[in-house]
Amino acid sequence: MQIQKIDLEYEVYENSDELKFADRELLDHAREATSLAYAPYSKFKVGAAARLVTGELVVGSNQENASFPVGICAERVLLSSLSSIYPGTAIHTMAISYTTDGQECNHPIAPCGICRQSLSEFEIRMRKPIRLILGGKQGKIFIIQGSGLLLPFAFTSDELK
Ligand code: THU
Repeated sequence: MQIQKIDLEYEVYENSDELKFADRELLDHAREATSLAYAPYSKFKVGAAARLVTGELVVGSNQENASFPVGICAERVLLSSLSSIYPGTAIHTMAISYTTDGQECNHPIAPCGICRQSLSEFEIRMRKPIRLILGGKQGKIFIIQGSGLLLPFAFTSDELK
């Protein structure tokens, strides 16, 4: 028997002032994109902004529904828009932020499990890791060098062969 270990390395910044200009700008786009969310049920508004390898920017926000499971997370709204507007284009970096009603939003949130699965397959298809910038309205920022790092043991199309 052996014990295997998986390490996750990520960068931690005290706040967005410490970020490089391009990263801070992208996070600001994600923060602004929270205003496009339709989240009347959870009141949890998520914004995502991606800088593509071509330099274009795409944003997404969560879109809820009275039939709760129909709602879509910001990250997958972004991936769907991107695939329609700039098909076949890889993402260099994606920033994710959020706001809530009357709560401090001072810590980063990470993509949910379904979004991790979608991001992972997008990375594999495009043969490029998606760098993630995670941050709230204020407070600490995490940078992760690839969204796949958040989904060890991912289920992939290889399994279906
Ligand atoms: N949500 C996202 O948009 N992205 C995530 O990664 C986490 C959760 C949304 C889904 C739902 O509309 C609301 O946040 C509360 O779960």
